[in-house]
Amino acid sequence: MNARADSVRAVSAKLAVRGLTHRYSMGTPPTELTVLSRIDLEIARGEFVCIIGESGCGKSTLLRMMAGLLMPSEGEVLHDGTRVRGVRHELGFVFQQDAVFPWLTVEKNVAYGPKSRGVPKAERERLVAHWCEAVGLTAFRKAFPKQLSGGMRKRVDLARAYANSPDVLLMDEPFAALDVQTKAEMQDAVLDLWKSTGKTVVFVTHDLDEAVFLSDVVVVLSSRPGRVHAIVRSTLARPRNGETRVGDAFAVAKRTLWTTLQQARGRAVAPAKARQAPPTTTERA
Ligand SMILES: Nc1ncnc2c1ncn2[C@@H]1O[C@H](COP(=O)(O)OP(=O)(O)O)[C@@H](O)[C@H]1O
Ligand SMILES: [Mg+2]
Repeated sequence: MNARADSVRAVSAKLAVRGLTHRYSMGTPPTELTVLSRIDLEIARGEFVCIIGESGCGKSTLLRMMAGLLMPSEGEVLHDGTRVRGVRHELGFVFQQDAVFPWLTVEKNVAYGPKSRGVPKAERERLVAHWCEAVGLTAFRKAFPKQLSGGMRKRVDLARAYANSPDVLLMDEPFAALDVQTKAEMQDAVLDLWKSTGKTVVFVTHDLDEAVFLSDVVVVLSSRPGRVHAIVRSTLARPRNGETRVGDAFAVAKRTLWTTLQQARGRAVAPAKARQAPPTTTERA
């Protein structure tokens, strides 16, 4: 590919990662730990992308770089073709831990981002009403976080992220601490928000069921230093619901992902198992 075609491709991607390598420096005297190595990714507008890989392979590091929270040692992240050099409200982030302010009510938490950006009061009110309703918290607008369940606090996190008018949502294992039932409800909520807004989502998880249920595409990272081992495109139809979770197609997709993840971790997979993976869904990156 020539340089011009390359730059056109970069602009057409909603989010692109180019030759990204990251090293942390630790200890005295400092030693370097390479956690990500030469990552290249192109994420299309409106896509739901999951990133999986074993613990410590650099998933959170990669996502923080996509959000501009951390600068790469080498390479770059491009948002609509423009280099990401720091935090910007267009790149919304949802953390694993609750990020709600305990001293603010639900509605004040949701209004926080827009208020910080100087959004006028009437527009703030509209945003708060809309996003509280979208996540099912209208009746709890005046409640404080300590009066809410874990799932409800996650809903506040989602409302806060969306109320800040993001273009891309970056979510780092946001539901990892929830029980199975609440997690499934939150996954449904995230898909509803994704469908109604059309915003691009990049979602880190170590939960294969979650990745299969949510994604259009799963990026499988190898063990540290994280590299793109494979890109697995989903074969599951949408919309996804309770039926999806118990269907045969789901089980096949999960097995494919499991096999790919084992390979990414450098683990041997029995040949019979490996053959079960439909070859068309997994493309070597
Ligand atoms: N601020 C930091 N300083 C030094 N090492 C770090 C820092 N943050 C993460 N690491 C190390 O980088 C590696 C990748 O971390 P992380 O991106 O959190 O992985 P993951 O999210 O895949 O579990 C881990 O070995 C971790 O210990
Ligand atoms: Mg992490």
